[in-house]
Amino acid sequence: MTAQPAAAAALTIRPARPEDVQTCGQICYDAFSTISAAHGFPCDLPNAEAATGAITMAFSTPGFYCVVAETGGRIVGSNCIDERAVIAGIGPITIAPAAQNSGAGRKLMQAVMDHASSRGAAGIRLVQAAFHNRSLSLYTSLGFDVREPLSCIQGPAIKRTPPGCTVRPAQAADLDACNALSRRVHGYDRGADLAHSIRHGTAAVVERAGRITAYTTQLAFFGHATAEANLDMQALIASADSFGGPGILVPSRNSQLLRWCLASGLRVVQPMTLMSLGLYNQPSGAWLPSILF
Ligand SMILES: CC(C)(COP(=O)(O)OP(=O)(O)OC[C@H]1O[C@@H](n2cnc3c(N)ncnc32)[C@H](O)[C@@H]1OP(=O)(O)O)[C@@H](O)C(=O)NCCC(=O)NCCS
Repeated sequence: MTAQPAAAAALTIRPARPEDVQTCGQICYDAFSTISAAHGFPCDLPNAEAATGAITMAFSTPGFYCVVAETGGRIVGSNCIDERAVIAGIGPITIAPAAQNSGAGRKLMQAVMDHASSRGAAGIRLVQAAFHNRSLSLYTSLGFDVREPLSCIQGPAIKRTPPGCTVRPAQAADLDACNALSRRVHGYDRGADLAHSIRHGTAAVVERAGRITAYTTQLAFFGHATAEANLDMQALIASADSFGGPGILVPSRNSQLLRWCLASGLRVVQPMTLMSLGLYNQPSGAWLPSILF
């Protein structure tokens, strides 16, 4: 008789519980730090505490659905999906390094995709590290299409407002105008996400020619921004005191904006890829996705 390998134990998926955050946070840090180190990139998260913070945020924010995978009663990974908009965004998904490549990631992906479908999501999106062959292969085989190459960029504050633009903190009264802008650029809005950011004091808007021409939930890895034109996006980026987490995600094909960022002293940290399944409109404006979408 040959002993069964641990990976052969039955793998089950269940909704995440608040008491899972420590285990899932440690797994999240171990998974990202291991894959990043193997490719010579800095880890997206500085330590296990930051990973636990990200997991806690996802597990506790209304509108997120989160699941864990268990084998033999032990958690081996987790996944989350932000269902606050008609487009849902997946992440973070992480599997403990020793349990990777055994099917847990596929099951965790299928669980959140099924949940979003059952709630009538028009589309699902995610952002993956471009160097990661396994995640690209997994998501492609699950039906996701590559949509946009992204550059995660980071650097010192620019603090130079383009002429004609005013940047100020966003207020609840700005929601309608920001949502209308998002619908013009993307075809849908992210009003619940923006309202949450306004309440937490991280959102900002640009005013030009007497109207709102850009907004951001936060200039950060977990924030997104939408603008009428590159000038408005430059006003937002140039207003930031710092860029949260590893950096902001600039669509690499927006050469004018990326060139401006580089000329302003920002540097590329790592290439990433936006992928989508279901509805996708080519945006008609300037935009920065969050690490979810
Ligand atoms: C990415 C990750 C979540 C995937 O989970 P996993 O449990 O390791 O993946 P699975 O075993 O379910 O699926 C991997 C699939 O990719 C395939 N694969 C792996 N490497 C491949 C390659 N180089 N080329 C083609 N296919 C590949 C596997 O054969 C498997 O396919 P299958 O389901 O058809 O058999 C996990 O590896 C992880 O946590 N990585 C580190 C953190 C991370 O990058 N998270 C993703 C952030 S976007």
